[in-house]
Amino acid sequence: MKIRSARGTHDIFGNDILKLNKIEQTVSNCAYLSGFKQIQTPIFEFSDLFSKPLGEHSDVVLKEMYTFKDRNEDLLTLRPEYTTPMIRAAISNNLLNNLPLKLFGFGPMFRRERPQKGRYRQFNQINFEIFGTSDFFADVELILISNEILKNLLPSRQINLHINTLGTKENLLTYKKELSKYFLDKKHKLSEDSKNKIHTNPLRILDSKEKDDIEISNKAPSIHEYLSSESKLHYENIKKSLNMQNIKFIEDNKLVRGLDYYCNTVFEFKTNELGAQDTLLGGGRYDGLIGLLGGPDIPGIGWAAGIERISMLMETNTKSENTIVHIAVTDIKYHNKLIEITQYLKSIKVPFFWNYKYNLKKSLSKANSEKVKKIIIIGENEFKGNFYTIKNLTSGKQFELQISQIGDYIND
Ligand code: HAM
Repeated sequence: MKIRSARGTHDIFGNDILKLNKIEQTVSNCAYLSGFKQIQTPIFEFSDLFSKPLGEHSDVVLKEMYTFKDRNEDLLTLRPEYTTPMIRAAISNNLLNNLPLKLFGFGPMFRRERPQKGRYRQFNQINFEIFGTSDFFADVELILISNEILKNLLPSRQINLHINTLGTKENLLTYKKELSKYFLDKKHKLSEDSKNKIHTNPLRILDSKEKDDIEISNKAPSIHEYLSSESKLHYENIKKSLNMQNIKFIEDNKLVRGLDYYCNTVFEFKTNELGAQDTLLGGGRYDGLIGLLGGPDIPGIGWAAGIERISMLMETNTKSENTIVHIAVTDIKYHNKLIEITQYLKSIKVPFFWNYKYNLKKSLSKANSEKVKKIIIIGENEFKGNFYTIKNLTSGKQFELQISQIGDYIND
């Protein structure tokens, strides 16, 4: 039997794991500076947590959830996103007694999508949420943090911030009705996929990539005709603040997002360097969602970014950052000396590698192929004379050193 990995999954190792670590480090530092606390929730939850809040007619709920029955008939789902689990965790652990609550986390999400470049069935997200404030500055703060993280990780990439507002839940309801009427009139010109969404999810037609759909959507009514004065003011305040801070943005009336819980501000950071899967990060407000999940009726806002998509745009770093020195031992008889040197290297925090081959030639060749600069040799002379030979593989020079002299030489 040949074991394969499941379609749409991938293993992360080598350079990609270094990049993943760098992403998590950068995100944690930014989160810490802005007062966000880390949280980790289970990978599976009761399915109810997702089906209604994400939208019964959204693609995620209709086609993409990994749902299974547990032995006791409970319906469980591998989390397709992190906002609803974070809210569930905040409610379960009474974290909402102390507001505003600022949480962040990373971890794997699961969606049964058609795999392609930048789109997986198991992928990793970074997630930031603020519960309990409708202050427009929370929206700005989250956009600023996203911007900082992306600038830090992808300094030379062209990434554009797109923003829009969807108005209040009431504004959106009226707008969706008008939109359904408009698309119904033009039904014969729409793609099959869009036709199916006229009554259930007309907002998503605005998002279609089909040429005919785009043409029709361009003339569709805009949400901006239906905004309450409060929503307009909220949006204007955000734009003013971003302008004041010289954060460039594109106002995109057709930006609607794929999950159903959004209202008011929505935003995405996009790049044209990744092909069709061009959104690196997306988020927005979801007033009403925390109440829907059984919590208090408080507002919330957040974003999530795809770690794999960020990683694909990061510079590759081919050198192994970890190992500084290799060790070559020519005979198992010198094992005690090997233990002595490895313990010493650990105590001075120098990463080392040894290949279990009692063969100097093979050890040297391995060290050269790994582009390691120094190798510590333990052979008969070293054993008898109680010293270590250290060879600098760049200069070819070698020295006989006592163990206490090795630290200075290696770090040199
Ligand atoms: P989302 O737009 O569904 O939002 O996903 C956020 C990001 O996750 C995307 O922009 C993309 O980078 C990445 N992503 C999504 N699906 C895949 C996939 N199949 N393969 C690789 N990467 C993917 C949410 O998940 C919301 N929970 C964001 C949010 C947080 N809104 C408020 N708070």
